[in-house]
Amino acid sequence: MKRFFYILVFALLSSYIASAQRTVIDFNNNWKFWLGDTSIAKEPGYSDNDWRALNLPHDWSIEGEFSEKNPGTPNQAALPTGIGWYRKTFTLPATAAHQNVSIEFDGVYRNSEVWVNGHYLGKRPNGYISFGYDITQYIDSGAAQQVIAVKVDNSLQPNSRWYTGSGIYRSVRLVLTNKIAIDQWGTFITTPNISSSIAMVHIQSTINNNSGQLGHGSLNTYIYDASGKLVSKGYASLHGAPGWPTGKAAYTYTAAINKPILWSVENPYLYKAVTRVLVNGKVVDEYATQFGIRYFDFDVQKGFSLNGKPMKILGVCMHHDLGALGAAVNVRAMERQLQILKDMGCNAIRTSHNPPAPEWLDLCDKMGFLVMDEAFDMWHKKKNKFDYNIDFDQWHKQDLEDQVKRDRNHPSVIIWSIGNEIREQFDSTGIPLTKELVSIVKALDTTRPVTSALTETDTTKNFIYQANALDLMGMNYNQQLYPDFLQKYPGKKFLATETMSALASRGHYDLPADSMRFWPLKGQKFVENGNPDYTVSAYDNVAAYWGSTHEQTWRIIKQYEFLSGLFVWSGFDFLGEPVPYPWPARSSYYGIIDLAGFPKDAYYMYQSEWTSKTVLHLLPHWNWQSGREVDVWAYYNNADEVELYLNNRSLGIRKKQPLDFHVQWRVKYEPGTLKAVSRKNGKIVSTKTINTTGEPAKLEIVPDKRILHADGKDLSFITVRIVDKNGNLVPAADNKITIEIVGMGALAGMDNGYPASMESFKAASHKAYNGLCLAIIQSKAAAGSIQVKFTSPGLPPVNIVLQTQ
Ligand code: GAL
Repeated sequence: MKRFFYILVFALLSSYIASAQRTVIDFNNNWKFWLGDTSIAKEPGYSDNDWRALNLPHDWSIEGEFSEKNPGTPNQAALPTGIGWYRKTFTLPATAAHQNVSIEFDGVYRNSEVWVNGHYLGKRPNGYISFGYDITQYIDSGAAQQVIAVKVDNSLQPNSRWYTGSGIYRSVRLVLTNKIAIDQWGTFITTPNISSSIAMVHIQSTINNNSGQLGHGSLNTYIYDASGKLVSKGYASLHGAPGWPTGKAAYTYTAAINKPILWSVENPYLYKAVTRVLVNGKVVDEYATQFGIRYFDFDVQKGFSLNGKPMKILGVCMHHDLGALGAAVNVRAMERQLQILKDMGCNAIRTSHNPPAPEWLDLCDKMGFLVMDEAFDMWHKKKNKFDYNIDFDQWHKQDLEDQVKRDRNHPSVIIWSIGNEIREQFDSTGIPLTKELVSIVKALDTTRPVTSALTETDTTKNFIYQANALDLMGMNYNQQLYPDFLQKYPGKKFLATETMSALASRGHYDLPADSMRFWPLKGQKFVENGNPDYTVSAYDNVAAYWGSTHEQTWRIIKQYEFLSGLFVWSGFDFLGEPVPYPWPARSSYYGIIDLAGFPKDAYYMYQSEWTSKTVLHLLPHWNWQSGREVDVWAYYNNADEVELYLNNRSLGIRKKQPLDFHVQWRVKYEPGTLKAVSRKNGKIVSTKTINTTGEPAKLEIVPDKRILHADGKDLSFITVRIVDKNGNLVPAADNKITIEIVGMGALAGMDNGYPASMESFKAASHKAYNGLCLAIIQSKAAAGSIQVKFTSPGLPPVNIVLQTQ
């Protein structure tokens, strides 16, 4: 009981990340939601008693059923969209009466409109941008309770080339400050001079003064290292500075850090700057900013280097969805995706094709990823009738400025992208627009290069190129041109902003492995060349015709120093864009990792190339018809050779030649055990076996964690493996799994990674796909145990227990 009391106190306190001067209130809990349009809901007196109670972040699309009739076509995962309303009734702390109150949204898809106590605050069309409103003047000081109402309108379809989600799908917070305070995103920290003995820290603080009073003031920034030790101080006087005392004014000052520890992907070391605003001797605000000290360079000849060390950008493109959880932001789900990528050796991510959630950038800072932070997928010229083209004119300046202001302190962010495959490449309007967008970025940050992901390689036809305003030439696909890049584009710095578009279904193999397929073949529609069960072979031999296999483009990038790196399309499968198949396919095949987070085979090709971990990965499964000729592949590293054995008979030794990324044997199938042994200098490095399996006999349950935070947010990702009586994964098993949960957790979603599954992500039953199924359990906000029971017809049930604390 006592423990429970402390946990409760802690939970209450931690939702107020407070100092006396500034109170940041997590505003995600206890909202009401209504799917439909009801304009009177903006009135404070409206009764929302029959609305659904929920916590944000929330994505109503992911809760729906797949249907061909949904206007958000299979390209957007064929899930429902429409209009929804959110309301929240809240009380303010007593201090609010003398303070400034603002509300901050990290992202609402899309066309949000916000009212406080019936007063209209504004509309924000862009679904990926963070924004805020000062609501001080709309607070009803006489009323005990205040009401906020948010309308979200995602009804005009189609408006995207991928799944967007619908709703307030990112975090919301309420910020209370004094009348003199640091502005939203009001610090900008750069480290222009770095040596091993000292790093200069430039701090720009923007003060917002609503007090109307003059005073003697100062800014004092205390810099702490990762252990919390004070390592430096910076100071600026506010008195007499321009803009003071009313309105917004920016002050620049410096601090120095001795023997700085640099941020890198291997050692993502972070400092914290705490800025105190003092007026007439009193601290009126305190504002913390995390930053890192690092320098990097793109060189025409030598490619990319970080902190003076040459390295390749080994990146992937990611959309923002979290598979079965949809677009609703969850820190643990994002962290899991990043961990799986990190384990593969990936060191960079492109946020295709929009700004990410701020917590996601925090994770990249902390975990050590480089980020290409992208703004737009279109400018004026549309890709879909109702996409951002309709808002571009009015909003692009503010949206881009807000993105840069919000994200420019993150050490992970190293590149700004002003757009992906923008149609204005092909039109002379591309010249002035490119110049304008680049200058918007440069006015706020000159420390990072600006790029755009281009497809038109003929410079006479590419008007974005002709603007001559980009720092980096971002090229999507066109890998055959990379070796001659320096001759074709003299003096330009190269980055492969998007590559591959290889296709695969996890665990599905079409034979033979060496017949290449590019989709679509000449004169065919995508689907005509496909399999009736909407599968694509996972030998790395299938790709969209504009792309390549994983090995093909990597082979080119690896060879040339000036090719600074690549972003593979895509890291994970994502919702929508189910190329090559039409409905009922509804999620992508492009991922190195499937939608549920299970790696496909190509994952191990990258791991063998991009990490120094010892890899020996063998494919395919070993359940075939007797006599069938089966291609067996092995990805390996840290060894000179691999020998393959079938039922203890050697099938020969294979060695990779330079620029080979796998070895292969063609084997006449017989049931039994396939064993690969890798050796270096004759000594065994690794062994891998795959057995022919029997029928499904049991469920093997593998949670990624058993102890969860009792915060109502934490997740356990539980892999269900369908195995035979000897524990071998049954390759084609599609048994239906049902889950029952009692206690301090609830089901957040189920998935199996199959892109044409019509099962709802939210249902408590889901089929396995090629032997695997995923269940995601979310903690409740109280300590206790979670009993989870898995059942499947014909197999013994399995119970496991998780804890929240
Ligand atoms: C690219 C585009 C991506 C995705 C990909 C699929 O051209 O930038 O968003 O559509 O193709 O191959």
